[in-house]
Amino acid sequence: MTSSLATVSYIAATILFILSLGGLANPETARRGNLFGMIGMALAVLATVLGPRVTPAGIPWIVGALAVGGAIGLIAAKKVQMTQMPELVALMHSLVGLAACLVGFASYVDTSTVFPTPAEKAIHEVEIYIGILIGAVTFSGSLIAFGKLSGKIGGKPLLLPGRHLLNLAGLLIVIWFGREFLHAHDIQTGMLPLIVMTVIALLFGVHMVMAIGGADMPVVVSMLNSYSGWAAAATGFMLSNDLLIVVGALVGSSGAILSYIMCRAMNRNFISVIAGGFGGGAPVAKGDGAASEPQGEVSPILAAETAELLRESKNVVIVPGYGMAVAQAQHTVYEITKLLREKGINVRFGIHPVAGRMPGHMNVLLAEAKVPYDIVLEMDEINDDFPNTDVTMVIGANDIVNPAAQEDPTSPIAGMPVLEVWKAKTSIVMKRSMASGYAGVDNPLFYKENNRMLFGDAKKMLDEVLAALRA
Ligand code: TAP
Repeated sequence: MTSSLATVSYIAATILFILSLGGLANPETARRGNLFGMIGMALAVLATVLGPRVTPAGIPWIVGALAVGGAIGLIAAKKVQMTQMPELVALMHSLVGLAACLVGFASYVDTSTVFPTPAEKAIHEVEIYIGILIGAVTFSGSLIAFGKLSGKIGGKPLLLPGRHLLNLAGLLIVIWFGREFLHAHDIQTGMLPLIVMTVIALLFGVHMVMAIGGADMPVVVSMLNSYSGWAAAATGFMLSNDLLIVVGALVGSSGAILSYIMCRAMNRNFISVIAGGFGGGAPVAKGDGAASEPQGEVSPILAAETAELLRESKNVVIVPGYGMAVAQAQHTVYEITKLLREKGINVRFGIHPVAGRMPGHMNVLLAEAKVPYDIVLEMDEINDDFPNTDVTMVIGANDIVNPAAQEDPTSPIAGMPVLEVWKAKTSIVMKRSMASGYAGVDNPLFYKENNRMLFGDAKKMLDEVLAALRA
């Protein structure tokens, strides 16, 4: 493939990636967006492998690596549960970081490129230094994020004394060794500052993510997603690969925007997240299922009574959460929705931006169950409608419907925007026990006068509700 054909393919791939991101912004166009992304990536890989910079001797290596990597990816994607997706994503980010580090070291020891001026050589070395720096932080940070999300490492934030000073000292050392690196006359002398910086960057990644409470992990994953984009862009600079620079920048900036949206949804301060200095005031997650002390009396309800209430309603809002994903209850939810709509009842869904365990988690499940997109509304679109709602069904959700976020300034989730389900005439919460949600805090919703608790596995209870509705 000639170099101009490779460039044209890269431009086409870039356009496809932009169309892909645009498509992913809306559930109705998400499939097409994914397809654009897949075609773009296939084109990018083909143009690179067959392009002018790969010699024929290198092709078997690349094909071998593609086969091994592709097989691992395929098996992982088939085996992973939807609820484990954030872990998989964190692990993948770590690989991008590792790749940036390896490419950085390889570029440094590669003597085949001759730089016409010292300035160009210096620019290349700055690219290497910064690329390895971002890559190492992304690599170790993502591994710790993986450990925390999968429960291999505790969710509690590790707050070392003087941690901000430690970070500052690390930054100063990195700048100092950067100067040493740029002044090195040969590869041997430059290698020491490069290795020292890499070790500090790895430690910084570990420290940064260890200091973050479990409840803030979603933001961290999307932030590491952004870092992995910048690491890829840095790799693009090192390899003089325009496509990698553009794609890295797309991932980097979209990850940053997503982090910002999630921060707003969880009432976290974006600037402090970006600075990496958060966790101290963060809600300390107790992890799934850990119960905080229940504080009051609850009114249980049976499936048959729930069906009766639904049948008598005009307006119903369903609020799904993590428990719906665990129970895989989305198909029964759809059956109930269909039945109620056939009876002329207005059924809609209220989706919180951080419901479940990953961005868009609920939208993906509802789309899989074929729930029409036009009745799936975002939190801001539905919150004003709860006072006119007869029944709100909360299916395996907890933190995202916790009124303490608005009513109790001392609550760890104070200020987090929530779905105001308690404003409906009746709210019904479906869950197995009184256990708290991800943030580990008690939920006063359960004790409200107009709230009923339908205890049991969401799938099992919804099956019973469906049977009662059909009876
Ligand atoms: P949670 O607050 O975690 O509550 C889920 C509830 O589902 C639990 O209280 C649990 O109670 C119940 N549950 C679990 N399995 C169930 C089953 N089989 N049947 C019925 N109920 C079941 O979930 P949420 O309201 O969706 O809020 C999400 C939380 O996760 C937020 O705190 C958010 O910050 C955090 N988070 C979000 C993300 C993203 S990006 N979405 C990523 C990581 C963390 P029982 O045990 O009593 O059944």
